[in-house]
Amino acid sequence: MSERSERIGMSAVAVVTGAASGIGRATAVRLAQEGYEVAMMDLDAAGLARTHAHIQETGGRAHPFTVDLCDPLDVGAVTREIAVTIGAPQVLVNVAGIGVAATVLETSDEDWNRVLAVNLTGPFLTTRATLPLMLDRGSGVIVNIASVGGQVGLARRAAYCASKAGLVGLTRAIAVDHARDGIRCVAICPGTVETEWIGKILANAPDPVAAREAMAGRQLDGRMGTPEEVAAMVAFVAGPDGRFVNGAALVLDGGMTAA
Ligand SMILES: NC(=O)c1ccc[n+]([C@@H]2O[C@H](COP(=O)([O-])OP(=O)(O)OC[C@H]3O[C@@H](n4cnc5c(N)ncnc54)[C@H](O)[C@@H]3O)[C@@H](O)[C@H]2O)c1
Repeated sequence: MSERSERIGMSAVAVVTGAASGIGRATAVRLAQEGYEVAMMDLDAAGLARTHAHIQETGGRAHPFTVDLCDPLDVGAVTREIAVTIGAPQVLVNVAGIGVAATVLETSDEDWNRVLAVNLTGPFLTTRATLPLMLDRGSGVIVNIASVGGQVGLARRAAYCASKAGLVGLTRAIAVDHARDGIRCVAICPGTVETEWIGKILANAPDPVAAREAMAGRQLDGRMGTPEEVAAMVAFVAGPDGRFVNGAALVLDGGMTAA
């Protein structure tokens, strides 16, 4: 048993959503390295299979579950399957998210509902399904990947900012309701992080090189963050060193919102 496994508990189970890509993939990989048995949820079965293969090749333990996180029945069924076949989760990391580039006036009903469903209702559904299992064991940590868009307004991101501010509010409410039950709930608010998502935005820009420079320049460091940097903060918050962190919205943005 590694020293890390000993610290987090031999068979601690972590659920990570959005694990097929970007920050979710890096988080699943990092938590597997830390010794967690990782249950991975995503819509993208092929992406999940790639993350799964990588974790297995590097000696970790992970299990892919293809699920639409907006579907309460799907989320409930997969969570029960995880509890029965792998074990009750000690850690839940809500990473899956989507965005739409639009002001309020440009946002369709469909886009509004979809962004809120994935970014806010999804974490609500996974939390509602997982919390009873955590309460049974008297401990658990829920980490929600919000965004700087949950702290400040971002141009042409109306639904996205609303969903992420809502997720920060949900995080605080869960912390307040369940701190005495041994549950911690924490939001992490990244600035711009170089993932497939950002890659697609840049590829579709009229001038991808200029767009990349502008995105990197939003951070005081002049660079985008890496998914691994976010995953490292998740590992800290979820682990024993993070036990005094609760109900917080931790900003991880290379100084983007300091200016
Ligand atoms: N990349 C950034 O700059 C950045 C900055 C701040 C916050 N975030 C947040 O981090 C999270 C991950 O972002 P990313 O850049 O890694 O994105 P990404 O697009 O690379 O990955 C998102 C994953 O979520 C999955 N997903 C989307 N809808 C789903 C659904 N209904 N059910 C199941 N899975 C679904 C996708 O299949 C994908 O694998 C998002 O919540 C995003 O808002 C990203």
